[in-house]
Amino acid sequence: MSQAPPLLSIRRLSKAFGGLKAVSQVDIELRAGEILSLIGPNGSGKTTLFNLISGIYQPDEGEVWLQDHRAVNLVGLRPHKITAQGVARTFQNIRIFPDMTVLENVMVGFHCRTQSGPLSALFKTPAQKKEEQYIVTEAQRRLALFRQLLPLINEPAKTLPYAYRKRLEIVRALASSPRLLLLDEPAAGMNPHETKELMADLHRLRESGYTLMVIEHDMLMVKGLSDRVIAFDYGQKIAEGTFDEVRRNERVIEAYLGKAARC
Ligand SMILES: Nc1ncnc2c1ncn2[C@@H]1O[C@H](COP(=O)(O)OP(=O)(O)OP(=O)(O)O)[C@@H](O)[C@H]1O
Ligand SMILES: [Mg+2]
Repeated sequence: MSQAPPLLSIRRLSKAFGGLKAVSQVDIELRAGEILSLIGPNGSGKTTLFNLISGIYQPDEGEVWLQDHRAVNLVGLRPHKITAQGVARTFQNIRIFPDMTVLENVMVGFHCRTQSGPLSALFKTPAQKKEEQYIVTEAQRRLALFRQLLPLINEPAKTLPYAYRKRLEIVRALASSPRLLLLDEPAAGMNPHETKELMADLHRLRESGYTLMVIEHDMLMVKGLSDRVIAFDYGQKIAEGTFDEVRRNERVIEAYLGKAARC
């Protein structure tokens, strides 16, 4: 039986800043429906990898193939084109609009899929009104994946507790109808109870058909969430496997202990 090609194939991806190799010759394959976690000490290149996949940085070398109806190399595409291809992300530091409501924050995420231009707010044609209604309905549908947010949809985002704001960012990323979600430290700043709830939310997302690549430092989260784990150090992939395999890997232990010893 022939296996489906991976949803994402990263080959020899490299990026240097001056003399610093932030990402170096990285190969990663991700199957549709998988949850892959990226771990590694501070500064090991995890966020840079996300910035390369999502088009914020251009790599010096390498390819990023996304398998949709056909394989597309994302390298060289602008970030909004990559979003339109089905890749969405969240950021290490929350980026939401504090004065907009929860619902409006999610609605903003739909703009790459809709037709209305900037004048539509002034002169609404029937087609634009219909589109706006569609966006509201779809935004509510995405919000329903995170039940905790539903009762809060008309609240300004700034009034939400931190853990809810982190969730809101994820829901907004879902607005672009991605197949692949890149989450940069989604559990950072959450307490153990909130982290456990988030883990259940992310499992539910996978069951709804999303594929997830998650950068995370919280090892309980990584253990409970991941099908597979990849560890980074100095921009290189140093281990890959199940959580237990990676945890026991000598290079991984050295990367974490070595860094701690130098601090
Ligand atoms: N735009 C940039 N210009 C110069 N150096 C950069 C830039 N972005 C990242 N770096 C450097 O690249 C290296 C990798 O950074 P990156 O943010 O990818 O690490 P990380 O693994 O996400 O770390 P953390 O766990 O702290 O978030 C670091 O040494 C960082 O200082
Ligand atoms: Mg980072």
